[in-house]
Amino acid sequence: MDRLSDYLTSPISIVLLAVCGLAYVLHSRFSNNGALPDLPWVGKADDQLFAEARASIASFSNSRRWLNEGYTKYTKKGLSYIFPDFSGTPNVIIPREEIKWLIDHDDRGVSVSEMHHEQLEGAYIFTDPYLLERPFHEDVVHKALARKIGLLVPDVQDEMQNAMDDVFGLETEWREVCVFEAMMKVIARVSNRMFVGLPLCRNEEYLANASAFAQDIITDIALFSFIPKALKPLLAPILTIPNRKHYRGTAKHTLPLIHERLELMDRKARDPSLDWQEPNDYISWHINLARAENNVRELDPVLISRRLMPINFAAIHTTTFTITNALFDIVGSRSAADYLAGLEEEAHRVFAEEDGKWSKPGLAKLVRADSALKDSMRISGFMTRAISRKVTHRITNEKAGWSLEPGALVATDLYSVHMDSEIYPRPDEYDAFRFSRPREEFEQSQKEGKLNERSKDEVLRLKNTGLITTSETFLPFGHGRHACPGRFFVSTELKMLISHLVLNYEIEPLSERPPNKWFGPNVIPPMKQTIKVRRRKESAATNGTSH
Ligand code: HEM
Ligand SMILES: *[C@@H]1O[C@H](CO)[C@@H](O)[C@H](O)[C@H]1NC(C)=O
Ligand SMILES: *[C@@H]1O[C@H](CO)[C@@H](O)[C@H](O)[C@H]1NC(C)=O
Repeated sequence: MDRLSDYLTSPISIVLLAVCGLAYVLHSRFSNNGALPDLPWVGKADDQLFAEARASIASFSNSRRWLNEGYTKYTKKGLSYIFPDFSGTPNVIIPREEIKWLIDHDDRGVSVSEMHHEQLEGAYIFTDPYLLERPFHEDVVHKALARKIGLLVPDVQDEMQNAMDDVFGLETEWREVCVFEAMMKVIARVSNRMFVGLPLCRNEEYLANASAFAQDIITDIALFSFIPKALKPLLAPILTIPNRKHYRGTAKHTLPLIHERLELMDRKARDPSLDWQEPNDYISWHINLARAENNVRELDPVLISRRLMPINFAAIHTTTFTITNALFDIVGSRSAADYLAGLEEEAHRVFAEEDGKWSKPGLAKLVRADSALKDSMRISGFMTRAISRKVTHRITNEKAGWSLEPGALVATDLYSVHMDSEIYPRPDEYDAFRFSRPREEFEQSQKEGKLNERSKDEVLRLKNTGLITTSETFLPFGHGRHACPGRFFVSTELKMLISHLVLNYEIEPLSERPPNKWFGPNVIPPMKQTIKVRRRKESAATNGTSH
């Protein structure tokens, strides 16, 4: 025994062990790559030792350059290539011509949920691996949200106006607000009006914990990308202590509500005359779907309270980044004054037509606000890749003559498509009314009686240029049957937010657009930058409707 321990502690063994350890770590970090098809890479120097590992690490600071290179050399010409992702698993990047081929595959062959499970570290960071193993909450949002959004509009308006008034204030003096922080508060609150309803959506402690949890997830995803796969199970319990604490901070408030809801829904089912109206929120949608599907496990109150965490994560940062970008794009543009005036004119006109009460058809008239958001999502999106999928059964691209083996990650590059001048003229320029100008011009010529046979098709085509319509050239919400089901809510709340802002506040244009920052393949908006706003004196007129 003595000899063995002597042997193990000798300098040479320590060096040997360290080398083996390092080899194991590198191997486990970059082990998925055997299954890749024979496609060209960007960013990999084949003649280097550990070429793949080095490319993976270098991709953190070269994403933008390599996406441009991949687009020019391959995807623009309809060809696929391999992008060395920082996580260690390279992505096969397909051209937009092949999106349909990819998303037409069965979920069992090409999986979104497996991708989420892998990219979002589902096994470790959401407090219970089952949440992303079987993402029932996604079914709930898919099945309920688009149908219920019309009924939700008055609630969203009420919450939006109250939250905006709290955050931007009612005093008619100029004040400076941090855009990201202010928007985070408003979005967390308005989203939770839909998830848990009143009064919990205004509870500071609950909101702080739900937002902190969403932030934990982002931090963990970044941290975990530096950790070798083999060490993740060991480090996860320590790194996710805050996640569990913040979950408990929400469960303290959500659990009693869920228990009560289950009981009231039971009583109402037994006695329809019961004087209680089922709230239109995620908790009700979840319980109704679980009952309809006879899914007993999903009726567990603790599981429901946990499901609210990935839902909050899906909603809060995505929407906050989006509106923060949109406000900076508008206010930081050379045409800021014109954009603000155009948005205000529209909001004023439509709000009056709608008698100060938003509805789904009323919001559909806000074509300028819609366009201002859409062009911002095009030019300032926080994700550069879309339709990310994990292959679970071998699939073959007959036309191009290659196959993907189980384990391969596939995606498309939306950044380059959004910046392609053949698709979007003057792509580097934020043009708030890029998509609304043709719609308004068409409506104008309709009014003037300049109609022709083509007009009907044209109405349809122009309608489909709106924010919620996904396509192979507009991908921030993905595309196909897994496209983001939250986008109907996003378009409702953000059009309302912009209208409320321009109707009630003057905003000082910025001399330039504060730049976004690239972190690996993600693009983060400025989080500290402020804007100056002043409540309009005449907004007393709308004050009556907001309280
Ligand atoms: C501006 C804000 C948002 C953006 C940019 C966004 C973007 C996305 C994207 C890119 C996907 C993946 C689609 C695909 O792989 O094809 C997605 C999925 C999803 N989003 Fe959103 N999202 C936003 C807001 C929301 C909100 C508010 C909710 C919640 C109500 C939500 C719920 C979901 C769910 C449940 C999925 C999974 C769908 C599936 O896998 O079938 N999202 N989102
Ligand atoms: C979360 O909830 C706890 C109580 O459970 C509270 O003490 C804390 O301040 C809340 N906020 C944050 C950000 O953790
Ligand atoms: C808004 O209405 C409230 C209550 O009616 C009033 O106290 C407040 O002064 C009004 N604010 C503005 C800016 O007019």
